[in-house]
Amino acid sequence: MSQQTLIAPSLLSADFGRLTDEVRAIERAGADLAHLDVMDGRFVPNITFGPAVVAAMKRSTALPLDVHLMIVEPERHIDAFVAAGADRVSVHAETCPHLHRTLQQIRRAGAMPAVALNPSTPLCMVEEVLGEVGMVLVMSVNPGFGGQAFIESALDKIRRLRAMADARGLSIDIEVDGGVSDKNASLLLSAGANVLVAGSYVFGQSDYAAAIASLRA
Ligand code: DX5
Ligand code: ZN
Repeated sequence: MSQQTLIAPSLLSADFGRLTDEVRAIERAGADLAHLDVMDGRFVPNITFGPAVVAAMKRSTALPLDVHLMIVEPERHIDAFVAAGADRVSVHAETCPHLHRTLQQIRRAGAMPAVALNPSTPLCMVEEVLGEVGMVLVMSVNPGFGGQAFIESALDKIRRLRAMADARGLSIDIEVDGGVSDKNASLLLSAGANVLVAGSYVFGQSDYAAAIASLRA
């Protein structure tokens, strides 16, 4: 099963003083989703922003908002992020002892439920809930910062995940996040990923449209 390719620039590498301009710029440049990285300084070392910034993004763009929660106890904040305009919400399996319930909470709130897996977290952590998700996010760096090097083992993990989903007749999105560039995009797509997150690669270039187009090719 081949899913539609979606490019999701991560605003983590945008100019935070001009976030609303930056999200409009990637929209004009042909992005499919805006990837918003929420960090709490506990699950990951870094701190970014909360629902108020997501709401400001919602007012500024028609792009669907892909909210990646790198926070402990995400169930305490899911409803606020969906009310702020999140269209997809990813929670980390490592933060959710009651992952099935948390995914139901996201769906009930009205967003697409997704599970994110750290590079060291095995696929079996998502196996029992694969039928409950719209997307699985395979981290190809340790979460917390933009601009890190791609971890190669993500490629085989994506291959195995796509095979697992296909074997069960599930047409889920597989998103890859971390170190994505024109050097690995086609490998990732042929391995079975269809949603490519790219932060430093897109925002590190002056021509966002060319950067986004180069990921699709
Ligand atoms: C990292 C974030 C990513 C980050 C990716 O923890 O989840 O979305 O922005 O940045 P790059 O594309 O620079 O690796
Ligand atoms: Zn992310």
